Order: sequence, then C-alpha cells, then structure tokens
Amino acid sequence: MSPPEHFVVEYAINPWMDTTAPVDTELAVKQWEGLREALVRLGHEVHVLAPEIGLPDMVYAANGAFSVDGVVYGAKFKYPQRSAEADAHRRFYDTLGWRYVMPSETNEGEGDFTYLPAAHGGLVLAGHGFRTEVAAHAEAQEALGRPVVSLRLVDPRMYHLDVALQPLDDANVVYYPGAFSESSRRVLAQLFPDAVVATEEDALAFGLNLVSDGRNVVLNSEATGLAARLREAGYVPVPVELSELKKGGGSVKCCIAELRA
Ligand code: ARG
Repeated sequence: MSPPEHFVVEYAINPWMDTTAPVDTELAVKQWEGLREALVRLGHEVHVLAPEIGLPDMVYAANGAFSVDGVVYGAKFKYPQRSAEADAHRRFYDTLGWRYVMPSETNEGEGDFTYLPAAHGGLVLAGHGFRTEVAAHAEAQEALGRPVVSLRLVDPRMYHLDVALQPLDDANVVYYPGAFSESSRRVLAQLFPDAVVATEEDALAFGLNLVSDGRNVVLNSEATGLAARLREAGYVPVPVELSELKKGGGSVKCCIAELRA
C-alpha cells in the first residue's frame, strides 16, 4: 500500500523523513523520556505540552513559536498537516501570561529563529529558504524589538536553521557553513569570528540540532565527531539517543521550545 499523499508531500520537503521506515513507538517515547530526564538532571525546568490526536509532529515542539523577553512571536506552519499545532502553543503561552503576537507571515518558530542575548546587545538569527518566509523576519523584528539577521539556507537537507546552527552560549554559535548561501556565510563569519565550525558529517548526524546551557551541550549521540570538537572547545557534551525521532526529521533541539522570559 502506498502512503497517504500528504505524507508523500511532506517527505519530499523533508529529506530526512522516510515514511516507509516504521517508527518503534515504544522506543521513541523512551528516547523522548531520556531527553526530558537529561534536561531535568541538568537543572532545567521542563513543561510538557500535551500531545493532541491528529497532530503527529507535535513532538517537534521547537516549531510552535519563538519567544524573547517574555514576548511570543507565534508560528504559522508552511504545511497544513502541522498548522493546528500553533494554537496549542498559543494556549500554553496564555497560561504563562506572556504576550502573544499572532503572525501573518509563514514561519516555523524556533525551527528557523534563535536568539543570542549577549551577541551585539541581543541578536535574533533567522533562517529562510525552505520553510520560513523572509517577510516573517521583518515581522518578528517588529514583534520582538530585537534586530533580526536574515540567513539564507541553501541545502535542502538543512531545511530549518536549527539543523544548521545553534547557540552554544549567550554570544557564540556552532554552525555548518555549507548549509548557508555564500553571502550568509560571510555574515556569520563577521558576527561570530570565534564560532565552532561544524562539518557536513556533523550536520548529517543531526549534531547541530542541539541545546546548550552555556556549558552542557545536549546533542544527538550519533554526532560523536561534533561532541569531540565541542569538548575541545571547552564544552561538556551530553549525548542522548534519539534515533526514532530522527526518522521524523528531528533531534534534540526540534523537541524543545526554549522559554525566554
Ligand atoms: N517532520 C517535521 C517537519 O518536517 C520535523 C520538524 C523538526 N523540527 C525542527 N525544529 N527542525 O516539519
């Protein structure tokens, strides 16, 4: 039997998704639980967004919104299969009492936005090229009152910014240059001369889809090369196994929305 058409469409736009490879649900939940436990062990407070029937990609919580200074710029998903997720996130931020700005432009939250509080006084980095529209970058800047630097993604395997670049601390990043246009590479080199530069192998192991607290870097256990490079740079890699989540095209960062009060 061939898969339903909407899965085929999604597969075409996310080269990581192989809908013919069955997911071991029990193992997927166990791995997700391992990620949650790793974060709690490191001292983080973790809220869990309740899953909703009919929204199988909700586990990739990074895509539902983007917050800075307690203000939330809402997501507007590119594909209809995920569009209802944005409202679940909005209701969550309502319970925190945070101001929520409804988007007009297509954007996939922290999939394509990230924030560095100590870089140049507070800088948003934003990706476009596959999912998020560049017009959303300007909209986010108006919503959040922070400068937004637009970066163009050019490799379809790195379809979101968060599989190509992540902050390592308040002012520095790790990224794979090959994911970006030549001009965007120049922008990144100018802004982050001390960045940790990742290889294509690191990116393909989903190593860049990491979450760092400035010291501990939680990353996919397959990314052993990147873990070694991070250790050399003075960070503490915390590997977690997320092989089942990778089948859906996501890893550590994709599963986590950061709450920036
Ligand atoms: N299947 C999901 C999609 O293609 C994966 C999203 C991964 N999330 C992320 N933040 N990159 O939309």
